[in-house]
Amino acid sequence: MMKLSNIHKTYGNGALQIAVLKDINLTIEPGEFVAIMGPSGSGKSTLMNIIGFLDYPSSGNYELNGEMISSFKEKQLAQLRNQHIGFVFQQFFLLPRIPAVKNVETPLIYAGVSKRERRQKAQQMLEKVGLEDRIKHLPNQLSGGQKQRVAIARALVNDPSVIMADEPTGALDSKTSEQIMELFVQLNEEGKTVILVTHEEEVAAHAKRVITIRDGMITDDRRQDA
Ligand SMILES: Nc1ncnc2c1ncn2[C@@H]1O[C@H](COP(=O)(O)OP(=O)(O)OP(=O)(O)O)[C@@H](O)[C@H]1O
Ligand SMILES: [Mg+2]
Repeated sequence: MMKLSNIHKTYGNGALQIAVLKDINLTIEPGEFVAIMGPSGSGKSTLMNIIGFLDYPSSGNYELNGEMISSFKEKQLAQLRNQHIGFVFQQFFLLPRIPAVKNVETPLIYAGVSKRERRQKAQQMLEKVGLEDRIKHLPNQLSGGQKQRVAIARALVNDPSVIMADEPTGALDSKTSEQIMELFVQLNEEGKTVILVTHEEEVAAHAKRVITIRDGMITDDRRQDA
């Protein structure tokens, strides 16, 4: 369970200080499928980064599975990230000069997994996302949807309990978006917690819960039939 209490995030200081998140209170249970929506600049990515331990709140508490993580140091946070969370971004962030399978392997290098096991796991994940015939392709030899599948395989390779995706379909056409969303639905059905940011109603329609954020505050939080 991820529990954020009274989370604030401000940037800058003095007269130039801006409050980007204002008193966010939010609990996400294991197995949820959450979409975060809201206008540009409302604080969605900032909130995602805090939920995913990529950034610290300015104040407030964050409890993960009963443990208070506000006091954690950067190294511990990095460990939590590697263990619990897989990230997917709009721009894919694949390493351009190495083949798909090596891109998927990279998180395992940091986790200290042997070369042979890395390759095996990466191949399995590429199969899972339907790319078993693109293992040796370089990122620029793949379509946008295929690149995002590689990024999703990479996010899955450490077997995280939570997949976080910031506008994962933002760079894709609507048909490809739909295919990528079906993959997220499948992962959620398999038990992964999915948290994603999107501008698109069609994308959010796949989630079981939609949170709206405006001007740094949660203004709506509703469950829906996916
Ligand atoms: N490092 C930073 N320093 C200063 N201000 C920042 C920083 N990061 C974000 N902001 C500001 O915080 C606000 C929220 O940004 P954020 O990226 O969370 O918005 P968003 O909802 O994800 O928007 P978009 O839909 O355009 O991606 C914006 O006004 C932005 O300018
Ligand atoms: Mg954003």
